[in-house]
Amino acid sequence: MNKTFLIYGANGYTGELITRFAAQRGLKPIIAGRNEEKIAELAGKHGFDYRAFSLEDTAKLDAVLQEVDMVLHCAGPFSITSLPMVTACIRNKKHYTDITGEISVFETCAAMGKKAEEAGVMIMPGVGFDVVPSDCLARHLKDRLPSATHLSLAFYGMGRISHGTQATMTMNVGKGGAIRKDGKIVSVPAAWKTREIDFGEVTKTGLTIPWGDVATAYYSTGIPNIEVFTVIPPANLRMLKVSRYLGWLLATGPFQSYLQKKIPPGGPSDEERAKGKTLLWGEASDEQGNHVESRLRCPEGYTLTALAALNIAEKILNGNFTAGYQTPAKAYGADLVLEINGVQSEDG
Ligand SMILES: NC(=O)c1ccc[n+]([C@@H]2O[C@H](COP(=O)([O-])OP(=O)(O)OC[C@H]3O[C@@H](n4cnc5c(N)ncnc54)[C@H](OP(=O)(O)O)[C@@H]3O)[C@@H](O)[C@H]2O)c1
Repeated sequence: MNKTFLIYGANGYTGELITRFAAQRGLKPIIAGRNEEKIAELAGKHGFDYRAFSLEDTAKLDAVLQEVDMVLHCAGPFSITSLPMVTACIRNKKHYTDITGEISVFETCAAMGKKAEEAGVMIMPGVGFDVVPSDCLARHLKDRLPSATHLSLAFYGMGRISHGTQATMTMNVGKGGAIRKDGKIVSVPAAWKTREIDFGEVTKTGLTIPWGDVATAYYSTGIPNIEVFTVIPPANLRMLKVSRYLGWLLATGPFQSYLQKKIPPGGPSDEERAKGKTLLWGEASDEQGNHVESRLRCPEGYTLTALAALNIAEKILNGNFTAGYQTPAKAYGADLVLEINGVQSEDG
């Protein structure tokens, strides 16, 4: 039997892009989601099989998982959708991947690592822009400076964000920031720290954000102190600082439904994605004052997400996986990101 995989949430912005790229590669996934009309239409376009079911329908979920070898979960926010899928994957002995960037999802999956190992399957959340390039950069820096105790990572995305990314960010607004300190994830205020970051072709002011690597880079490198920075427009920085004081209000039900309804559907067009790019920078240092820096120049974030997720899916389907909870660079090494067309690296 040919190995195959399930793309759940295929009708979302990123799910559709991944489905389209899968068709271009000649892959034959089964696509799925909770909206039968949209899923059937997308399946018809690419000649794929489809299944329509909600994540609450455990019997149907189990039955569908029996038809595939792994899942590429694209329906977010993953803090809502990941748990039913990852537990079903372990129960049915199927590999699990997703495109989350949420710290809580990485930590929940990490806590299920033993169960996944016993089931002989790999669970790897974060196979998209968050965290493939930054995780590879982290691992590369650790390889260059094995004594590293501190890691700083930063990314600068030039392009528009999608409905789901904005919905996930809005859901988490008011929850503050997070860093890793002495091996533990600790809460810090939103935009807690800023610093000038030399991305190579441009220098920008970065601010700390609770990005997935605060969780994952620790598993990939063992470095106990981790901060992640990004670049946002000055107006958004002001709003983030205000959210330190109004966070409780922004997180309330009525405010959340108001903000969520205002988010436009979709994401960057094919033309916008083709023009976009992302820059990453990382620095590792140790107690003796040694420090190393490296940079990556990558395609636009959603393009990279689709390419990285499918590269990893192909590896798993070819039997290249390690059972248990894994991060991309832990399972596949720092050079994984260099397998993506258009990625360039530079050590500084
Ligand atoms: N890690 C990364 O670099 C990266 C990159 C891209 C996206 N993402 C994340 O991926 C997620 C999707 O983003 P997007 O822009 O593609 O989103 P989107 O266009 O809003 O699509 C979301 C998809 O998820 C489905 N969905 C949402 N809640 C669900 C639930 N409770 N049960 C079942 N299905 C559910 C939606 O189904 P309906 O159509 O039925 O509502 C839709 O198919 C977001 O969390 C985003 O942050 C991460």
